[in-house]
Amino acid sequence: MSVRNLVGRMIPGDLKYYMYSLNYYWEDIRRYKKYANGYLSPNKEKILLGKIIVTYHIIEKGLTMPDMRAGFGKDALHTLIGLCNTYIDKQCNQQDDHFLHAVKLLNEYVRVHHDLQFALDPVLVNKIKTLSERTKVVDTCSQLGCDNDEYFKHADSSFRDFAFSRHSIRNFIDKPVDRNLILKAVEIAQKSPSSCNRQPNRVYILENKANIQWLLESQKGNRGFGQMIDKVIVLTAEIGVFNGFTERNEAFLNSGMYAMSLLYGLHYYRIGAVSLAYVRVSKEDDKKLRALCGIPDSEVVSMLIGCGHVPGKLSIASSPRYKVDKIVKVVS
Ligand SMILES: Cc1cc2nc3c(=O)[nH]c(=O)nc-3n(C[C@H](O)[C@H](O)[C@H](O)COP(=O)(O)O)c2cc1C
Repeated sequence: MSVRNLVGRMIPGDLKYYMYSLNYYWEDIRRYKKYANGYLSPNKEKILLGKIIVTYHIIEKGLTMPDMRAGFGKDALHTLIGLCNTYIDKQCNQQDDHFLHAVKLLNEYVRVHHDLQFALDPVLVNKIKTLSERTKVVDTCSQLGCDNDEYFKHADSSFRDFAFSRHSIRNFIDKPVDRNLILKAVEIAQKSPSSCNRQPNRVYILENKANIQWLLESQKGNRGFGQMIDKVIVLTAEIGVFNGFTERNEAFLNSGMYAMSLLYGLHYYRIGAVSLAYVRVSKEDDKKLRALCGIPDSEVVSMLIGCGHVPGKLSIASSPRYKVDKIVKVVS
């Protein structure tokens, strides 16, 4: 018997399992630590840009809230201005679409408040003006405004028009969404591809208002609009159908594909929807949700979808996208 086999026999099963798993997870941990948190990443521009996008998205969302609170987001605004100035100081690419969008958005914030005749803190206005002059970006962007009919006008159109017409909705009216419509949307999502057709996806529909509000409070990414959400869909994936460490991310991958189909399904049935990250829910609340919905330990919760009916008039965050040539590399 080889030394390796001998050592292998002497190590208890569970320990062996953890040792083998480290082979795979260690690489995940290493890469994530190096790049995701950004402290050690060699690419400071990418990190700064990521932070700029996350921060401007807070302002974008604030500008589209149904009851926009004039003067909102002071901390986020100062953070965004600081990030943009650092971005310039570090001589990053000032022609980047998202950097330009951030400055335009700050200008939009000032314009919107000017139109409302709301007196903003002069220090803030001055900082935005200085940044605007520094970057020579004087124009503003505009969040999208439309009415219910316009929003769903492509619900039956060609796929291209349909896909371009879907947005995250953060404004709902007080009218219950028919559960059957959600089930029909789920039927569409069931057509999503899955690894070897193993179909790990599971769907829980939360209808009880008190439970919904508790969960949304724990989720945290729905400030200003969570109280209007009518139903919450909890997406999970069963990890029992996967094998080996190489499939360790499949549950989330399958669930992500499923979520997109479900969002399209909801759009098709004219239900407004917003994805809600399941990343800030505490361990205790995760346990509570599992108990509430009867989610077995073998399933991972991937994300939530808040939904409701869309009001007559609404504002939508513009959330611009990278141009195709910025993210595609053809390797011939
Ligand atoms: C996994 C995931 C988590 C998200 N979490 C949130 C969230 O917590 N709160 C929120 O308002 N939007 C959330 N969103 C929505 C994104 O902000 C939105 O999809 C993005 O800005 C693009 O805009 P669009 O959906 O209108 O095209 C999430 C989206 C995804 C895919």
